[in-house]
Amino acid sequence: MSLFRIEGLVKRFGGLLATDHVNLTVDAGEIHALIGPNGAGKTTLVNLISGLLKADAGRIWLGDHDITPLKDHQRVGAGLSRCFQVTRVFAKETVHDNLMLAVQAHAGSSLRFMAPRANESELVSKAEALAERVGLTSERHRIAGTLPHGAQRALDVALALAARPKLLLLDEPMAGMGPDESARMVALIESLRSEMAILLIEHDMDAVFRLATRLTVLVQGKVLMTGTADEVRGHPDVQAVYLGTEAEGHS
Ligand SMILES: Nc1ncnc2c1ncn2[C@@H]1O[C@H](COP(=O)(O)OP(=O)(O)OP(=O)(O)O)[C@@H](O)[C@H]1O
Ligand SMILES: [Mg+2]
Repeated sequence: MSLFRIEGLVKRFGGLLATDHVNLTVDAGEIHALIGPNGAGKTTLVNLISGLLKADAGRIWLGDHDITPLKDHQRVGAGLSRCFQVTRVFAKETVHDNLMLAVQAHAGSSLRFMAPRANESELVSKAEALAERVGLTSERHRIAGTLPHGAQRALDVALALAARPKLLLLDEPMAGMGPDESARMVALIESLRSEMAILLIEHDMDAVFRLATRLTVLVQGKVLMTGTADEVRGHPDVQAVYLGTEAEGHS
């Protein structure tokens, strides 16, 4: 059984069919990339998966758990965590305090029976481990809003990791990054592969082809195809879609 599965998902905005009966699976250990031109419905799909938007039809499964009726925060509890195309880091707090808030939010009942001081030091060590995980140890005491863009995105990933997801949703993690920052983010995503499945939306095709186990191409809300990098690259319909859009450049 796939770790994650969506079946016949539909979302309409008025007369626009933004998500048109989409089926998609993500296996354990997989980095599954979702690609497609601007307006294809990628962000809408991620919003449906994370529970920010309610689907008009279809079902979403995490393992054998039907998460379709769950609210967004309940889906996080079920093992689904996301990063945002627009970062949600608390800009005026330090990196450490951002991580402490995230760790606290997901600490759950395991810490309830500890003495407050033991509890606090457990949270601190978790926050420090997360900073280390995304390469922000030396920036721990900086105000988050003063970090370079790439480091803020890395912090956003760390905030999502605090929920210890089974599936991580990444919506354009490389957006607005220079080559060095992108390379660091690619390495970070690669390093997460063994711990969780990832659904990655990204316009940077070099990064996508380097990372993805499989890709799904979305066009006008519909799945055009799902396949390996070679299968997608060699598909004439995909080339037709991208010949029209690559030249315009992407955000
Ligand atoms: N809240 C909304 N209300 C009405 N229409 C919407 C809404 N959100 C998205 N749309 C429309 O749905 C379609 C899909 O948009 P979406 O943002 O999901 O595309 P995308 O693939 O993420 O694009 P991009 O690559 O530019 O981020 C677009 O035509 C968009 O205008
Ligand atoms: Mg989008």
